[in-house]
Amino acid sequence: MEIAYSKALREIEGRVCPWQSVTPPNRLETTNRELLLGLYTSRGGDPREALREALRRITGRRHVFLAPSGRAAIAQILSVLPSHEVVMPAYTCPVVKTAAEVAGKRIIYVDCSAGSLNATSAEFEAEARPGRVLLPTHIFGLPTDIDNICALAKERECVTIEDAAASFPSRPDGRLLGTVADFGVFSFERSKRLPAFRGAAIVVNNERVVDPEVFESHAAAVPMKDGLPIRELLFSLIFNFATQPSVYGRFTLHRILRGHRSTLDVEEAPTPAEARNTPFFNRAFHDYQAHLVLRALNRWETIGQHIENLLAVYKSTFASTSVRTFITGACDEKALLRFPITLSGIERGEILRRALRCGLYLETNYESPLAPKSEYAKYPNACWAAENVVLLPLYRRLSREAAETIGRQVVAISEEVRCVAKA
Ligand SMILES: Cc1ncc(COP(=O)(O)O)c(C=O)c1O
Repeated sequence: MEIAYSKALREIEGRVCPWQSVTPPNRLETTNRELLLGLYTSRGGDPREALREALRRITGRRHVFLAPSGRAAIAQILSVLPSHEVVMPAYTCPVVKTAAEVAGKRIIYVDCSAGSLNATSAEFEAEARPGRVLLPTHIFGLPTDIDNICALAKERECVTIEDAAASFPSRPDGRLLGTVADFGVFSFERSKRLPAFRGAAIVVNNERVVDPEVFESHAAAVPMKDGLPIRELLFSLIFNFATQPSVYGRFTLHRILRGHRSTLDVEEAPTPAEARNTPFFNRAFHDYQAHLVLRALNRWETIGQHIENLLAVYKSTFASTSVRTFITGACDEKALLRFPITLSGIERGEILRRALRCGLYLETNYESPLAPKSEYAKYPNACWAAENVVLLPLYRRLSREAAETIGRQVVAISEEVRCVAKA
């Protein structure tokens, strides 16, 4: 968000957004009541083991491990693999790069496909060499062609890690994403569908690659602090309050925008040593977090149904308009994390500014490709996605009416700009 907004707001003075209710880009699936009640109810039994058991049932796999975060999970898997090189999309979450660096691997990037936001088997093809690890992603919950990538990996003697961090629990063709490649990773980070502040699960789908017991003892050897994530709990209580639309539009958003305006420089990515020293790597997944995930899993059907309804609203609002969407028939609509769109031919900064003026704060993400700047020309589609994609909200507390308003506002912005361009 920082780069796109700091660029978009650079030359604008004064207030850019009216003082009114604003729909936040995301809200936690967990309410404050659930957060507080969970403190008591999570004390009985063994919630971590219960979550592992639930995940074993859902995935159909015997070996499921919990990790401090998705990035730590990827780093843990990479660390037990002898390969020195990992192939990953140039357009994905930057912490995936951090994970590979923490594991000490050389990174080879692949572009994303022109037709989607994912790197597909066509892009992995040229870099799938024997001994390499392929790390495909289902970005924002949009499935990549994981079967073809795995077939390619098998043929070329590569190991596959399926980054399903943002897509859990998506079942595009009945099979759960994260259970197709040799390993799968799910994230329970705050912005995900089943949030527990932080945390992740590793699913071992192919026990022949690494003996799961070796894996478990290796993971256990990583020094980690234990303890209730109290700061994260307090943050989430405040976050729930601050993301109520009436508070968000009158207070939170104005603070965020002030922050965007003052961050003209992009923050440096952490070094591997710095990253290892953060809770994303050094805080063990706590029973309380396991309890939160279990509770959210119990009401998954209701959450998923609501997301599907919101998606139907967006899809019908954008039908026959110039708004480009990325939802294909292969997508499990219940488990999409965000609704990505682009407005072709319109500079994103212009879209963000116009949206703010009508009280709409649009989300942007992964605003630079992960490859070094000098190599950007090799990844034209990743560059295009990083510069153009806008994410629309999908969460249980978002009403269909609010989604409809957002959709209509986006269409109106697109038409306004085109009219101005024609005049
Ligand atoms: C595609 C993808 N992979 C990996 C991660 C890392 O997950 P975590 O934040 O749990 O480390 C994320 C997080 O946003 C993600 O979106």
